[in-house]
Amino acid sequence: MQEKQSIHGAWANRWIFILAATGSAVGLGNIWKFPYITGENGGGAFVLMYLFCILLVGVPIMMAEVFIGRRSRQSPINAMRDLAIESGRSPNWSLVGIMGVLAGFMIFSFYSVVAGWVLHYIALMGSGDMVGVGVEQAGEIFNGLLADWQTLLIWHTVFVVMVIAVVAGGVNKGLERATRIMMPALFVLLLVMLGYSMSTDGFAQGFDFLFHFDPSELSGEAVLVALGHAFFTLSLGMGSIMAYGSYMPKKAKIGSTVLTIAAMDTIVALIAGLAIFPIVFANSMDPGAGPGLMFVTLPVAFGQMPGGQIFGFLFFVLVGVAAWTSAISLIEPAAAFMVEKFGLKRLPACIILGLLVWGLGITCLGAFNFMSDFTLFGKNMFDLLDYATANIMLPLGGIFIAVFAGWFVKQHASKEELGLSDGVYKLWYVLVRFVAPIAVGIVFCLNL
Ligand code: PFF
Repeated sequence: MQEKQSIHGAWANRWIFILAATGSAVGLGNIWKFPYITGENGGGAFVLMYLFCILLVGVPIMMAEVFIGRRSRQSPINAMRDLAIESGRSPNWSLVGIMGVLAGFMIFSFYSVVAGWVLHYIALMGSGDMVGVGVEQAGEIFNGLLADWQTLLIWHTVFVVMVIAVVAGGVNKGLERATRIMMPALFVLLLVMLGYSMSTDGFAQGFDFLFHFDPSELSGEAVLVALGHAFFTLSLGMGSIMAYGSYMPKKAKIGSTVLTIAAMDTIVALIAGLAIFPIVFANSMDPGAGPGLMFVTLPVAFGQMPGGQIFGFLFFVLVGVAAWTSAISLIEPAAAFMVEKFGLKRLPACIILGLLVWGLGITCLGAFNFMSDFTLFGKNMFDLLDYATANIMLPLGGIFIAVFAGWFVKQHASKEELGLSDGVYKLWYVLVRFVAPIAVGIVFCLNL
């Protein structure tokens, strides 16, 4: 059989795929969200749950996404349909891809608002305005930004344009070029931050907070958050990784590649936690401060360290880039689908998508100011979209993908595509067939 090619292009080699998928995985979820949800959910016990979820649920589902994408070489909606047909199943499996595209829009809209805060902080740090500020003042600056919808709108717009510009460039000239340089740089800067935090008085306390295990701190809600975050941080359950997998070289081994990506993502999250919590404790701040954690603690720390203006500036540049490479992957499945389905060129497809997410994003930035009174299910738009995607849609998408790969795709297809040894294949098979769906199902039911 002749090997299928994607009409969108292909990664130059296995390492570019690893870097691109890591670019998708490593983002605001690692540097902004992981530390603050760990803070809100009590620390070590939560971190342990999260690691279990990554290994037992995240990794097998990521392998499933990559093989489904690579076998069909199409956008997730068409990939699910084609693979279903290949295995003699209903083409309606494409609905999973459609839900993924929807989740991508929803995530993008609040993600872009937070990325906008990051862009604003790049300017703030670079200008030297944050040098020497105290905790209280830093809090006021952040709250002032949230109240100022015009500034938020400008940065949100800038971010949408940055993302659309890359996705419109296509797989090689857009995505590949954008991810290949910035990921190692991000890693280096996180290590610099880690070095700094190790030298503060709070390091032992911060370390203890992240790794001290006390099961009594674990609530049902915390387990749901840990599971949801495992999906969010690995970009699973909505087709991003499936789309990236469709550009992956045939020769590359899926198992070791996926493990590398998951490991890099986890390491970055832990380093971000180790960089932020010591600073929180050294300044007697509240680890449960919520979404503002990164925007209040880090500027204070940078404002006091030698060279902090430069390092603070670079740090936010790199958080911005991490957000950028992730946001690209939120749009890619929809962009690829529009090209396949309607024969559009990349640019017009991306402009339409950009306008959609830009509009939805405005309701999220408004949640902090002109729309603060508007709530649905007791949450403002920002919290609602975050909650609905991370805690419901991604895990649900993940279950469907696991069930599809484990129960509906013909075994010879998954075996051939994954290329694992018999023992490892059996392990994977048990994980996607039973462990992942049952674990997600139980966590869901407990929380209803
Ligand atoms: N994984 C990204 C992060 O941790 O910031 C967010 C994300 C990107 C989620 C792409 C989902 C996705 F499809």
